[in-house]
Amino acid sequence: MEILVFDDYQGLSRKAADLIKEQVTKDSQSVLGLATGSTPLGLYKEMINDYQHGLDFSQVTSFNLDEYVGLSGDHPASYRYFMEQHLFSQINIKPTNIHIPNGQAMDIERECRVYESAIQACGGIDLQILGIGHNGHIGFNEPGTPFGKETHLIELTESTRQANARFFSSIDEVPSKAISMGIKSIMKAKQILLLASGESKAGAVHQAVEGPVVKEMPASILQLHPNVVLLLDTAAASGLNRALVNQVG
Ligand code: PGA
Repeated sequence: MEILVFDDYQGLSRKAADLIKEQVTKDSQSVLGLATGSTPLGLYKEMINDYQHGLDFSQVTSFNLDEYVGLSGDHPASYRYFMEQHLFSQINIKPTNIHIPNGQAMDIERECRVYESAIQACGGIDLQILGIGHNGHIGFNEPGTPFGKETHLIELTESTRQANARFFSSIDEVPSKAISMGIKSIMKAKQILLLASGESKAGAVHQAVEGPVVKEMPASILQLHPNVVLLLDTAAASGLNRALVNQVG
């Protein structure tokens, strides 16, 4: 695991964008794994900026980590809507190359299988972006999710529903289920960038990096991946053993 620590959120967002730019420049048909949440917003702004300065996303394919069950893609709290608003509508990725689980599928189990197969049919994910939940979740893989799961239906924990209630008019409107790529799907990505910002993530980051690899801390599995870069600001890195950290900005 490579751990890069930046003075601020802007620094880590720019570095993440540089790594995506490097990937897309090396292979114009790259497959990117994308995430929602507040953490990647700075990265998406930088990707839009790179597009405006000539970076071409027209051959890129994307797969998002997750989607709520029951929300249509034009619901303002759906992850499809989020991605359209914050990234896809502002770069030249082709709509047909964008993949987000369909939370309104009639047969959710089938949707999960089809989604997983579509990732493999594109040759797998070259570069996966991840955030981390306060409880260590990655995607919607909550503590206790078996590491061997591929894309699957999950029940959201109460803490995750509460953390996400800010995007809905009340907690009662937050769906109780979601489709998420599993830990196994995530671990197949060739490279993973995990972004974390702010002191509230310091505990989860510390456990994920220095704690045991256990399913109660889903992000700890990343210790076993051969190509992971953690991009942290000083606050998110504040619980880490300094000897592990590379302060870069
Ligand atoms: P956040 O969410 O970026 O909004 O903090 C991260 C996550 O829960 O995975």
